[in-house]
Order: sequence, then C-alpha cells, then structure tokens
Amino acid sequence: MTASKNQNLNKSPVFLTGVAGFIGFHTTRRLLEQGRYVIGVDSLSPYYDVSLKESRLKVLKESFPDTFQFFKASIEDRPEMERIWRASPEPIQQVIHLAAQAGVRYSLENPYEYVTTNVTGHLVLLELARHHGPLKNFVYASSSSVYGGNTKLPFSESDRTDSPLALYAATKKCDELMTEAYAHLFRIPAIGLRFFTAYGPWGRPDQALFIFTKKILAGETISVFNNGHMKRDFTYIDDIVAGILGALENPIKDTGEGSPHKIYNLGNSSLEQLMDYIQLIEDNLGKKAKIQYLPMQPGDVPAALSDIMEARRDLGFNPKTSVKEGVKNFIEWYKGYYK
Ligand SMILES: NC(=O)c1ccc[n+]([C@@H]2O[C@H](COP(=O)([O-])OP(=O)(O)OC[C@H]3O[C@@H](n4cnc5c(N)ncnc54)[C@H](O)[C@@H]3O)[C@@H](O)[C@H]2O)c1
Repeated sequence: MTASKNQNLNKSPVFLTGVAGFIGFHTTRRLLEQGRYVIGVDSLSPYYDVSLKESRLKVLKESFPDTFQFFKASIEDRPEMERIWRASPEPIQQVIHLAAQAGVRYSLENPYEYVTTNVTGHLVLLELARHHGPLKNFVYASSSSVYGGNTKLPFSESDRTDSPLALYAATKKCDELMTEAYAHLFRIPAIGLRFFTAYGPWGRPDQALFIFTKKILAGETISVFNNGHMKRDFTYIDDIVAGILGALENPIKDTGEGSPHKIYNLGNSSLEQLMDYIQLIEDNLGKKAKIQYLPMQPGDVPAALSDIMEARRDLGFNPKTSVKEGVKNFIEWYKGYYK
C-alpha cells in the first residue's frame, strides 16, 4: 500500500528508532501496511551481521517507497537527530524508540557502548520529545532483564527491579527512571515495554534460536548453559508487534496527578523449558543437536515468565502464537533466507 492509494492515510509520521533491527523492522512493516508514514533511524551498528539489517531495510524501502523514509544516524548524535526530526514534513506526534545496544552477555565485554546508546541515546530521544512536543505518545523498549535474579514467578510490573545482573539490564532500568522523570516534569505521555525473549523470522543472530539452528545445520556442537535447566517466556514477534501497536494506540491519559507514564510486560506468559525448545528445533530441521552442557553464564537468569494481566487489560494484548508454530515459522524463514 502506498500513500497515493490510501485515501485515509494518517500523514503524521511515526518516528521509529532501531528500524533496521529485528523488532523495529517488523513493527515498521506493520505500521506501513496500515498506511502510516514512518521516519526510521538506525546506525546499522556492527554488533551483528550488518547485511541482515540492510536486507530488512531493502524490504521496507522496496515495498513502501512513498511512505518510508530511512536515516542512517546514531541516536546519541544530538545535532543529527534534531535535524532529522525537524525535516519531517508533518509534526511528529508518536515515537517508538527501539534502538539499543542489545544483548546481556556482550555488556560484560563492551560496557561503554551500552551507556552511549541506551542511556545517552535515550536521553536524546526524551529531549526531542520535550522540546518538540506536544507528543501523543512516547513508546520505548525496556526489557524483562530488569527483573534480575527475582525468583518469584511470574514477574509483575510491581515487583522490585533494583538488582540487575548485568549492565544491559541496568541501562534499561535507567531508561525507565529517566522516562519517569521526563514524563513527570514535561508531561510526556510515555509507555515502557518489558519484552520477554522475542523470536521469529528475521530474528537476531546473537539469540539462542538463531545460533542453535545455524550450528545444528552445520553439524557443530551447541553450548547449553546451566546444564539445560533454563526456562524462558519465548514471545513470537507478531505478538510483540501487536503489543507495541496496542501501546501506541492507548497512550496514558494525563490526569495531572503522578506522571503519564506506565510500564507493561509483553510476554507470551508461558514457561518453556529450553530443552523442549531445542527439541522443537531438531524436529523442524530433521536433525539431532550435538550438545555440550555448561554451567550458568555470568549475567544470565535461570528463568523468566511474564504476568501480562495489565497489558491485556490496557493495551488489548493477547499473544496467540505457540512456540511450536513460532519455531516452525523461524526455521522456514531461515532456510529460505540462507539457502
Ligand atoms: N529481542 C528481544 O528479545 C528483546 C528483549 C528485551 C528487550 N529488547 C529491546 O528491544 C529493542 C529492539 O531489540 P531487537 O531485538 O530488535 O534488537 P536489534 O539489535 O535487532 O535492534 C536494535 C537496532 O538498534 C540499532 N542501534 C544500535 N545502536 C544504535 C545507535 N547508537 N543509534 C541508532 N541505532 C542503533 C541497531 O543497529 C539495531 O538495528 C531494544 O531496545 C532491545 O534492548 C529486545
């Protein structure tokens, strides 16, 4: 669908960071399919295969030449971000901020990248929202990792989140706190989303599903940590995107009391054993994995499960995709893409 074909096109663009990333790509594609304009920013960081990011962008540019605009920029670059924001033909009223230095384990190796992108970069977005508002909604990515080593399952938004196990988690918690202050001071309606292990087609090469698939196909041994005693709340990408758009459409009303800012879990709310997940990959590939069992990695958590009662109630969030279906879709995509 292009601008000229859609009579009811909402011309106010969505300003979306991390557009070449896994979740940013899928979210943008859905918005463009709905007839929205998207101004997408991404630095194409070399943290993982840049050609995969370029391929995602190619899909967006070719399918939506009239309604998608891409800018290669780093979110911590204030003048450049200001320039991109001001160049919008219509006032920007909605932000979806997904750009980040992701990954828990890499934050032990390259901590400065996390603070530059996740803290300074996040502040730049908040400053844009402050000075160029009023915004209707500022939606941003947090992470289930803020729950640290909490042992009470499922994790609820009201649980304590002051014991992060890695710097990545600390920067995401920092984003939540900075947003709370800005929402309070400058009345910016904001929603933070704590994603629980998103997976699916066009996924991230540093995530377990991708690594396992690649290694099993190559006949290489996979490393399974905590001797396989890991449990996760794997959330299919289409459900994550539905949650992000649910957040975009349901901004927090500013009643004048407190801050117009709220945080929601977005998970599948279903606890999966890592070994069952591996079995599903094996079944779909028709090939057994060679497994090396290892102890727990520093910074990692043994189990994560979301309580999504609040997102169901306020955002209409209703995850539908089983891991059986989701893993099958991923492997179909992987085999087609890397044929
Ligand atoms: N995928 C998950 O399971 C998961 C779980 C919890 C939270 N999150 C969060 O969701 C968001 C999206 O994650 P994703 O899985 O799509 O990751 P991703 O790495 O695929 O996407 C992030 C994008 O941000 C870009 N980026 C990095 N540094 C940048 C900078 N300084 N300036 C501009 N762009 C920059 C990268 O090039 C990348 O394309 C991130 O904020 C991440 O922390 C993801």
